[in-house]
Amino acid sequence: EFSDVIVVASCNVDLISYVEKLPKMGETIMGKEFKIGFGGKGANKAIACSRLGSKCSVIAKLGDDIFGKNYLDNFKENKIDTSRIFITNLAATGVAPICVDRNGENSIIVILGANLLLSPEDIETCDESIKNSKILVTNLEIPIKSAIKSLEIAKKYNVKTVLNFAPAVLDELDEKLFKYTDFLILNEVEVEQLSHVEIKKESDVQTAGLALLDKHDVKIGIIVTLGHKGVIFVDRIERSSFHVPCNKVNVVDTSGAGDAFVGAFVHYLNRAGSVKEAIELASFYASLTVQTHGTQSSYPSVQELDQKFKI
Ligand code: RIB
Ligand code: NA
Repeated sequence: EFSDVIVVASCNVDLISYVEKLPKMGETIMGKEFKIGFGGKGANKAIACSRLGSKCSVIAKLGDDIFGKNYLDNFKENKIDTSRIFITNLAATGVAPICVDRNGENSIIVILGANLLLSPEDIETCDESIKNSKILVTNLEIPIKSAIKSLEIAKKYNVKTVLNFAPAVLDELDEKLFKYTDFLILNEVEVEQLSHVEIKKESDVQTAGLALLDKHDVKIGIIVTLGHKGVIFVDRIERSSFHVPCNKVNVVDTSGAGDAFVGAFVHYLNRAGSVKEAIELASFYASLTVQTHGTQSSYPSVQELDQKFKI
């Protein structure tokens, strides 16, 4: 079966506490609100691009538990094909306790559980589905070997590839991760960690991007997301960069905004005329998601966008 986008994904249930400010070590504070929702950096991307209207399938592993069962229903409700979702009884479905402060900034703990059991052998059984996709997306909440395997299979069939270097996992780095990647997407923290270039001003991002392109064999370019400061693209061949500014919005909760950007980017890349246009549209989409609570719960559908903006 054919799909626009295939996401080799992590799935977590998000346990979100809204607080004035984060507690200090040893301190007990009263929170304002608690919400439970579906998250995980991989699944979030899939939900964003499916709600935008792409035909999307997911390769992932869930635990044989209530969170896992609910998660499968969540995929089905979002029109995502679940025939490549593995269930294990050897680990629990991933969870992510998240704290969001009054400025909408978050800190996240991830307990990956079943996500860590998504193996390269599992990915190999999905060879045919990867071949039948236009673009493959993955990130680092699954074993690095499995991320590499999926990128490698995609490249074998000339399928476009996007690696979101999130979270920045630096201890088992392998060059293969980059050589099968067309677009490498990182946020400000991740780009500092991977390039060792400190980001103090906009031009530092280009310096960091070029340093990464010198060191790693990424095929098309590097995309750095900078939150309210917008997005910068560094092109491998041209060795040039451009900046896409972000519209100013009222920030409630930034959790999952990076994933919304990546999910929307791959959706629009399949349709838009240029990388720049795809970045602009994705950046606008991400800016909508920070204005409401939660991760997936804040991702609008194409119908909601049509209604809101009468386009
Ligand atoms: O990027 C946001 C996501 O990170 C959350 O949904 C959480 O599950 C963690 O994976
Ligand atoms: Na949000």
